[in-house]
Amino acid sequence: MRSVRPTNVLLNALAVAALVFTTSLSPPVAAETGAEAWLRYAPLSPHAAKSYKQLPGKIVVLGDSFVLRTAQQELARDVAKMLGRPLTSSGVPGGKAIVLATLDEIHAILPTLQAPQGLKADGYWITTARVRGAECLIITASNDRGVLYGVFAFLSKIARGESIKKINELQQPYAPIRWVNQWDNLDGRIERGYGGPSIFFLNGKVRDDLTRAGQYARLLASIGINGCTINNVNAAPGILEDDFISQVRRIAAVFRPWGVQLSLSVDLSSPKVVGSTHVATAASAVQPAQSVAEPLDTFDPLDPRVADWWRKKVNEIYRQIPDFGGFVVKADSEGRLGPSTYGRTPADAANVIARALKPHGGIVFYRAFVYNHHLDWHDLKNDRAKAAYDNFHPLDGAFDENVIVQIKNGPIDFQVREPVSPLFAGLRRTNEAVELQITQEYTGQQRQLCFLVPMWKEVLDFDMRIDGNSTPVKDIVSGRVFHRPVAGFAGVANVGMEANWMGSPLAMANLYGFGRLAWDPSLSSETIADEWTRLSFGRDLLVVKTINDLQLNSWHVYENYTGPLGAGTLTNITGNHYDPGPESSEENGWGQWHRADHQGIGMDRTVATGTDYIAQYTPEVQKLYETLASCPDNLLLFFHHVPYTYALHSGKTVIQHVYDSHYEGAEQAGDFVPQWKALRGHIDDERYRDILARFEYQATEAVVWRDAICNWIYRLSGIPDQKGRVGSPQP
Ligand code: GCU
Repeated sequence: MRSVRPTNVLLNALAVAALVFTTSLSPPVAAETGAEAWLRYAPLSPHAAKSYKQLPGKIVVLGDSFVLRTAQQELARDVAKMLGRPLTSSGVPGGKAIVLATLDEIHAILPTLQAPQGLKADGYWITTARVRGAECLIITASNDRGVLYGVFAFLSKIARGESIKKINELQQPYAPIRWVNQWDNLDGRIERGYGGPSIFFLNGKVRDDLTRAGQYARLLASIGINGCTINNVNAAPGILEDDFISQVRRIAAVFRPWGVQLSLSVDLSSPKVVGSTHVATAASAVQPAQSVAEPLDTFDPLDPRVADWWRKKVNEIYRQIPDFGGFVVKADSEGRLGPSTYGRTPADAANVIARALKPHGGIVFYRAFVYNHHLDWHDLKNDRAKAAYDNFHPLDGAFDENVIVQIKNGPIDFQVREPVSPLFAGLRRTNEAVELQITQEYTGQQRQLCFLVPMWKEVLDFDMRIDGNSTPVKDIVSGRVFHRPVAGFAGVANVGMEANWMGSPLAMANLYGFGRLAWDPSLSSETIADEWTRLSFGRDLLVVKTINDLQLNSWHVYENYTGPLGAGTLTNITGNHYDPGPESSEENGWGQWHRADHQGIGMDRTVATGTDYIAQYTPEVQKLYETLASCPDNLLLFFHHVPYTYALHSGKTVIQHVYDSHYEGAEQAGDFVPQWKALRGHIDDERYRDILARFEYQATEAVVWRDAICNWIYRLSGIPDQKGRVGSPQP
């Protein structure tokens, strides 16, 4: 990827206009709608503000770029908001100042300044130094984006009341790729989006008003996210029509000041259909695109005409969007066309596009979510969980250097609990990214609280034991284990037009947490929750403790009343993915089977008697899951089919665990209400009431879930609850 530096006055003017457009001139946001998320920058009390009185009153920016200007304006604006103190700005060093500059630029005035260790792209260093005799605060980095990230980190410290005295902090991103995906359709709807319609598209066009898109880029930049794919992985081919690219260019322009690269999801059959799809066009200031190609009669990735088609299309995109990031591809999956149409492989398909992108520095994210959704459920050896590994492991080494295989955290589909995908350890000569789902498709759809950071931590920390060594997933997907050139994190965010972005103010902790973990997966869930709460709700200790506790407990509570022992969420999987619907998993080709019958429950995925899925893991991990004795209770039903009377490590039978956990979960969810009520008067009324209504609703939903699952499993098993709550009590 390459960064763009403005080369002329016009570009500079555009950048400033975009920044002003997205920050200053935005319509004023009502006090606490959640729109500002973790970037509230509320005024500090005079007492708290005093501890920052040594902060210089001047910003000196060395160098010039869109992103550096953003950094300077953000710093000046937010310090003024928090400390009530204006900062002047200058390009000329002299006197006490906050200096914003890349290391290269700073060496012009401080030739001896050396970062304690080499700074990677996007990493930053905040320190102090004497510049021409005056004590200065330095925010520096190897690139402009790093300077912006340093500014946001510095502002976060002030907002959270951290001391900045003797500051000397160097931060490096864990992985180069830290992207979000939006599943926005061109008509403005969002697949699995629960925060209102698209901020990018409306009625088949890019929105005229892209204020929210710019504000979103600001939120993303503040947590170190450097790329955003703006359209649904189930991609409309129309996104690549010439007229549409010139519309998309406007979105790239509002991303650019924040260092967020734009990318697109593409349909693999595009060469055959683009040119014949109808997309609405909007007036554009750009020179009309040269029509690059007529539709072909094929999209076979090995046909030279197809390669040529992609090359021309990509050249045209870069002509309009010079810092374009690349493409995300979903193919041969859930009805999408793919290389299998021509007997070709995912590597053939990825590479033809990658070669078109390569001269421009672009990347292809080829999704490993490839599976047959017409699987024969009668066959006990069939197993959807095996699909990603079966499809991609044999292709290890066949993908070009600028292809990343994007792998969902688990082998099924963002369930409340799954083991990690074995594919992470199955690709040694291929770039990887982990795909995490920020939008809560299967985990309460933002109507119920489910803070996913603790789940993601378990995924990222899981040790795959490659060659018998410690190889946690985070080290594989960051490219460290196999020294891959590009690697990282993709999070499916799906924010929308609702003021609070995700439909619920508390759900924003998941977006924040994704960014923080992509930057530094060693951060604890507690630290992330605490940072987020302080930034989003202020520093009242009761507020901080209550919200942190609620967030940190919420995943286990949700799991308790929805899906037991790794069986999945037991949601209605053929419908809304929200209500309880355990029967919907069975007797269809989707393969989210739990195989519950009158005797027992669970998928037998063992090597000994089951689907052989466990064989996809490394030998030590196989050992962990293969036997009942070593398999952890919380994944038991993912790996084994057992009778309801089987005794868990906890000593309880499976059936009693299901009853108890569902009653416990519903009770815990009910307790969220009084916990929240204690905050009345401690936070703004608007968010207080909104979130209270959500918790009251969640409490009733948890009971609906509890009863649906308990009654279902009682009907199946005929075994009553020992505590007399379900069925008839035992004599
Ligand atoms: C899930 C989700 C779909 C989505 C798919 C994907 O199955 O329900 O809406 O398209 O994942 O990740 O491609």
